[in-house]
Amino acid sequence: MATWEAEDFRAAGADGPAGAVDVADVADANDRGAVRALTPELTEDDLGIDRSLRPKRLEDYIGQTRVKENLAVLIEAARQRRDTLDHLLFSGPPGLGKTTLSAVVANELGVSLRATSGPAIERAGDLAAILTNLEQGDVLFIDEIHRLNRSIEEVLYPAMEDFVLDIVIGKGPAAQSLRLDIPRFTLVGATTRTGLLTGPLRDRFGITFRLDYYNEQELHDIVVRSAAILDVDIDEGGAREVSRRSRGTPRLANRLLKRVRDFAAVRAAGEVTSEVARAALAFFEVDELGLDTMDNKILDMLINTFNGKPVGLTTLANALGEDAESLEDVYEPYLLQQGLIQRTPKGRIATQRAFRHRNVPFDLFG
Ligand code: ADE
Repeated sequence: MATWEAEDFRAAGADGPAGAVDVADVADANDRGAVRALTPELTEDDLGIDRSLRPKRLEDYIGQTRVKENLAVLIEAARQRRDTLDHLLFSGPPGLGKTTLSAVVANELGVSLRATSGPAIERAGDLAAILTNLEQGDVLFIDEIHRLNRSIEEVLYPAMEDFVLDIVIGKGPAAQSLRLDIPRFTLVGATTRTGLLTGPLRDRFGITFRLDYYNEQELHDIVVRSAAILDVDIDEGGAREVSRRSRGTPRLANRLLKRVRDFAAVRAAGEVTSEVARAALAFFEVDELGLDTMDNKILDMLINTFNGKPVGLTTLANALGEDAESLEDVYEPYLLQQGLIQRTPKGRIATQRAFRHRNVPFDLFG
């Protein structure tokens, strides 16, 4: 069968409704295995962390108390109504559990999770193929949903609202469009910042949750839980040291735990005590605030290279050799939360606390 791009199709004079999918694109997506790339399990182990560490049920999930309480009610209500859960949007910095929570939601609902991401969906046909292959009630998780292409996003609107897909068959003046019913499903979107979502997409989510950084006690509990699963010998002091330096982020807590375990096995007797944890974290260049070399490089740039003056995001990103988006989404949130940098109308500045942290006298710049 001949296939063509949706753009070619529109250029040839067919005007299906906005958000309509060319039927050939769907066939093409199926041929390319776009659906097979989706597994019922989470796709990427981006965390480099064992699946075994991820809690499967709400009751095993530590932290995000308010979100959990809300989810428990919404899930129970959907169950009682024997209906699908409203579409959910999780936002927040990376590593706080957006993916894990979506798997927990699917588990609690007793349905399958289909996971993909905004950048992985290259064409409208890919999304149509995913949607038509869902089963009733499934949870479709789209990570980095703000990175979905606009034309693909339009396919999502009728799917989210009415569980239908608009398909265009044929070419030119003879083209016909038809509506295809798809199974009722719950879309769970994840984004680092809701501000990056288009208004129409944001409006179609019934429920939005913002995930916050975890406090030290919660991280401690996560470290203890993970250590038990991984059979790591860690004492109270060791667990405190790891959790204190994990920047409020379970993904980092689990990562640090593994590195500290490795260090303990090679350089110590195997047990992770606070001394061993401290030595390990110094070895891996994670400082007392949990900042790594990149975080400290950002502070040093602001303090030394730019003399404590405000710096625009792009200028700072260029100076660091990073792209502005990761600087803003990955590195800045924790530095801001810790009061190490500030966003001002003139740009980013290092705070007095940052000067102190980097051992540079603040009044030199005042
Ligand atoms: N592992 C990673 N995140 C977790 C969480 N929130 N609760 C329990 N274990 C976790």
